[in-house]
Amino acid sequence: MYPLSRNRRLRTSEAIRSLVRETSITPNDFLVPLFVVEGKGIKEEIPSMPNYFRYSLDLLSTEVKELWKLGLKSVLLFVKVPDNLKDNTGKEALNPDGLMQRAIHAVKHAVPDMLVMTDVALDPYSNYGHDGIVSEGKIMNDLTNEVLAQMSLSHAVAGADFVAPSDMMDGRIFEIRSLLEHEGFHDTGIMSYSAKYASAFYGPFRDALDSAPGFGDKKTYQMDFANREEAIRETLMDIDEGADIVMVKPGLCYLDIVREVRNAVDVPVAVYQVSGEYAMLKAAAEKGWLDHDAVMMEQVIAIKRAGAHIIASYFAKDVVKLIS
Ligand code: PBG
Repeated sequence: MYPLSRNRRLRTSEAIRSLVRETSITPNDFLVPLFVVEGKGIKEEIPSMPNYFRYSLDLLSTEVKELWKLGLKSVLLFVKVPDNLKDNTGKEALNPDGLMQRAIHAVKHAVPDMLVMTDVALDPYSNYGHDGIVSEGKIMNDLTNEVLAQMSLSHAVAGADFVAPSDMMDGRIFEIRSLLEHEGFHDTGIMSYSAKYASAFYGPFRDALDSAPGFGDKKTYQMDFANREEAIRETLMDIDEGADIVMVKPGLCYLDIVREVRNAVDVPVAVYQVSGEYAMLKAAAEKGWLDHDAVMMEQVIAIKRAGAHIIASYFAKDVVKLIS
């Protein structure tokens, strides 16, 4: 009781503040999303994501070497698929010589110990820009699962350590896990986007991959952002089906969900600080309205404090450079 207790005593200097600090950030916290394109010598900036790039395979190798030197040991790969290879079946996603499969090789060749996670979803491959196979304007759940399982197997064969299904079809974790087990890929992990919301914060990402839905929206598969209890249901189901790591996405607007999921499960929880969150801060900082580095640190610490074991973030490199 005051004046015996005065909370400000623990705030009097940086030394005491750092001694009692509850949350800290290290390079080990991060998973780095990377965008890959066909071609050679390409490092092109994504217009709605300042200072974030799409890389051709040669420069992807350079980039992952730099990440490794910074202590960033895990990447999450996304590919931008040429229009002429898109269809409604995800055929190109299964091509053993496709861009994703070659990207996995490229990263493993450049940095053999880098942990490689791959995006598993049909939207970059879909002529409709949807995460599933479309029939009469509807997204076909079970047909899509078959392709997602084959796609995951193809990534595992190419050398992926983890597959990361980001589609939100029902039962896809079970289908993927079953096929991986059946084919002997017992050590290939699954990081499930288990509580992924239908969010307007994905806009810049869809620019990066040219993957915006051609009709409608994703609300029949991604979650309604008004829902909280559903996130727990989704997450527990994915764990039952074989997910090794679960995820909440987006990040900052969903920290209540992060904490609730963290309290409800005993597997690692990842949080995806998405493209729109990145773009907002970059834009405000460009205008001189926010202190970029200070706000960035506040945001990633908040995500970790909320309960994230893993943060997928476009800020990973910026943060690690700042704290090193
Ligand atoms: C698509 C996918 C999306 C993101 C990751 N995987 C976009 C979407 O669901 O439309 C978003 C990532 C971001 O915004 O940074 N399967």
